[in-house]
Amino acid sequence: MEKKIVFPEDFWWGSAWSAEQSEGTGDTGKAETIWKRWFSEEPNRFYDRIGPDVTTDHFNRYKDDIRLMKETGHNSFRLSLSWARLFPDGGRGEINRKAVDFYRDLMSEMIKNDIKPFINLYHFDMPMKLQELGGWASRETVEAYVNYAVSCFKEFGDLGYHWFTSNEPLGPILGTYLEDFHYPNFIDFKEGAQAAFYTILAHAKAIKEFKKLNLKSKIGVILNLSPTYPRSSNKWDTEAAETADAFYTRSFLDPMVKGTFNKKLVSILKEYDQMPDYTEEDLKIISENTAQILGLNYYEPRRVKARLTAVNKNSPFLPEWFFELHNMPGKRMNIYRGWEIYEKGIYDLCMDIKENYGNIESFISENGMGVADEERFLGENGQIIDEYRINYIKDHLAYLYKAVNEGCNIKGYHLWTFIDCWSWINAYKNRYGLVSLDLATQKRTIKKSGEFFKKMTEENGFLY
Ligand code: BG6
Repeated sequence: MEKKIVFPEDFWWGSAWSAEQSEGTGDTGKAETIWKRWFSEEPNRFYDRIGPDVTTDHFNRYKDDIRLMKETGHNSFRLSLSWARLFPDGGRGEINRKAVDFYRDLMSEMIKNDIKPFINLYHFDMPMKLQELGGWASRETVEAYVNYAVSCFKEFGDLGYHWFTSNEPLGPILGTYLEDFHYPNFIDFKEGAQAAFYTILAHAKAIKEFKKLNLKSKIGVILNLSPTYPRSSNKWDTEAAETADAFYTRSFLDPMVKGTFNKKLVSILKEYDQMPDYTEEDLKIISENTAQILGLNYYEPRRVKARLTAVNKNSPFLPEWFFELHNMPGKRMNIYRGWEIYEKGIYDLCMDIKENYGNIESFISENGMGVADEERFLGENGQIIDEYRINYIKDHLAYLYKAVNEGCNIKGYHLWTFIDCWSWINAYKNRYGLVSLDLATQKRTIKKSGEFFKKMTEENGFLY
């Protein structure tokens, strides 16, 4: 029998996207980012050869878009600020007043419409000039970032409901230094460990400055976290899963939320001579300045088994020396994107945060269903009939509800994403929005899921 699921009052309902994926160039002047550079060098690496300049044109259309946020039931929304727009001299120098005005107008318009701005400072969009100095692998980038962060706290401190130092810091590390899907594609684990360490240091230093300003809001980080499941309960599989978890989950979660580093991870890095450089002062700053709020991006679980084949230890060092990803027979797939669907993962993740991270105030900051060639689901009047997305949202929220009822400190749910937007090398291949986009005309149309979302947020729940 169906039952009514009702979330706590004041639950944050909304969606998320980022500056580089939505704004377009605009007329404020903007420095070159790594995406723009990469596209100019290797357009073939981008789906349909569409680069970061072809977006939803939110810069010019933000007022209409905020109306659409309202029409789809948002009471909150996560945007990111563009470092390259606010500091057009490559991420340093003087702040650009025109860019400040743009973001102030945009967020004021949100607030006028009762939509709380959740401000993220970094979403994969490194200014190219800083990348030329080493990007996150360079201390100079940390200093430039802290200057950028402090300027934003001062300029927008009255507008931000909550703040985040970055989105999915693991992404650029994995993509750049381990797997070749993020510029400048430099496969070298140790350099990646350095970049990861400096990202963590930048987070802590920004929080340290934030606290001095006594703003009303909180500051934290958005992490992509996949609960890790071993293939079996035998000791080899469980050991392999623990190692994968140390590399991919605890690596950022522990220092950014608890201020400590995962012991297993540190011992492996020491044994294989992969430790980054750091000072005692860095460790002190990290331990004293941790997240006050945590965003959880959850898409799919990580399934792991023991590595039974020998690795060639003359090849570049990789976490996969210690485990293999397990392709579990019978797993349920989102066939339109190629990711596993496992809604219970959202519950397991929340319980982990409750039990091991002091039940820090958290929310789901991304969850969603990407669909390739979504026009195939076009119904009458040009609306996308995305029942699969509605079911996906409900199934995940039912488990989130269970977590809330079991005491998890979960304050909201943000879907990825609002309007179908550009996505890094996948460009417009996978559509995730509550609102569809006709790229040729920029016409926006609310999908069936957008209508569902509105009703759900009005009722603060749904029948399940
Ligand atoms: C999230 C990122 O992890 O995945 C987004 O934060 C990204 O920026 C989204 O767009 C979807 O990725 P993809 O590869 O399916 O388009």
